[in-house]
Amino acid sequence: MKAYNKKLFPKNFLWGASSSSHQVEGGTINDWSVWELAHATDLAKHAQTRLSSAVYHHLTKLPIWDDIKQNAIDPNNYVSGQGVDHYRRYKEDFDLAASLHLNALRFSLEWSRIEPVEGEWNQEAIDHYHDYIAELKKRGITPMLNIWHWAMPIWFAEKGGLKKRRNLKYFYRFVQKIADEYGHEVKYVITLNEPNVYTTLSYLTGEWPPQEKSGIAFIRVYWNLTRVHRQSYRILKRANPHLQIGIAAQLANIASKRPHNLMDVIQTEWMRYFWNWWFIRRMRKEQDFVGFNYYFTDYYRFGKFDGPDDPPLPFSDLGWYLEPEGLYPLLLRVWDHYKIPIIITENGLADQNDNYRQWWLEQTILAMEKALGEGVDLRGYFHWSLLDNFEWSTGWWPKFGLIEVDREHGMKRTIRPSARWLAEQLADTDSP
Ligand code: BGC
Repeated sequence: MKAYNKKLFPKNFLWGASSSSHQVEGGTINDWSVWELAHATDLAKHAQTRLSSAVYHHLTKLPIWDDIKQNAIDPNNYVSGQGVDHYRRYKEDFDLAASLHLNALRFSLEWSRIEPVEGEWNQEAIDHYHDYIAELKKRGITPMLNIWHWAMPIWFAEKGGLKKRRNLKYFYRFVQKIADEYGHEVKYVITLNEPNVYTTLSYLTGEWPPQEKSGIAFIRVYWNLTRVHRQSYRILKRANPHLQIGIAAQLANIASKRPHNLMDVIQTEWMRYFWNWWFIRRMRKEQDFVGFNYYFTDYYRFGKFDGPDDPPLPFSDLGWYLEPEGLYPLLLRVWDHYKIPIIITENGLADQNDNYRQWWLEQTILAMEKALGEGVDLRGYFHWSLLDNFEWSTGWWPKFGLIEVDREHGMKRTIRPSARWLAEQLADTDSP
């Protein structure tokens, strides 16, 4: 039975998958790869404690800890290394994406390849991404170009990265180069991925490089990122007015634990403002669509972050409780606030045995259909991710791919059953 009712979706709806350079390419040399090598042993040693503090608090340990333990305590798990060799196998991967009837792909440029040394452009890398875009288009896949997905060249990180306002000129020079090189080849550009998540984990909780735990640094970086987006928008539009530009914001469906409790409601409204709206409000005039990544429904009880009491819900392998239908109220809220086209730039789950991915996709399609029925101008959906990939500080064991990659056996790609199911749903959709 088809879950997907094509008639409810606009013509040219973007059905895509997302990825990011550092997580798949292999051989990237940037601030993250340096940090991984320095911290792999430590990350492995404290894996269990770190992971159990990250999971939904009613669980005492990761649902699949026994299965993944061997990987989680192995330092190699925390090194991106050869990635899934996507830098070399991109054509094969695009063939697979096309066979799934996907008509769009969001990918990020690896700044550290394009400008490995300050002020010196690497023509080989520049040509690579020209070819990358051409190969996507050849297969009827619309490229969505993401300029920055967290990793940065070592020279830029050593100058203090995005914390220093005087460093932003280097970012703008990079954006100008991107505008000149690729601006006429693509229609959709994302400037930044999840500024809120990056700033929180890298500068507030100190989990990610550069591991600062400073409220002041947090505010500076967050504020600088608003500048970066706005200025990048101007640079890109000046060179290529046709571009449709946004960010990939991390938005949660933030809800009150006790919907009639005034204190819970106040906390909820504050969190919605702080986590969801603050950044995109600052760039209201500089976005052609609202792009957002949806993974979480977060419940707030006054004074604390919470979850449903006894969630009748499955958990992902990372211990995140899964509420795909939370996308619907979130879509309504985003539409209500901004009234411009919306693209879901990421959405998915870590599920190595593919137990819940099809269900997640079914519920997500339903949520999108309901929102479209209410007049929400939704233009696209990108699943995270096309391939299994390197999940930042948790490394290789979390499996987010529509396509499984066996790194132990020649990087063999295998389409997961849920992805086959999705492909059946999309079989007769139009390409844009
Ligand atoms: C990020 C991805 C990440 C995914 C799953 C998103 O927050 O943009 O890079 O792999 O979530 O955690």
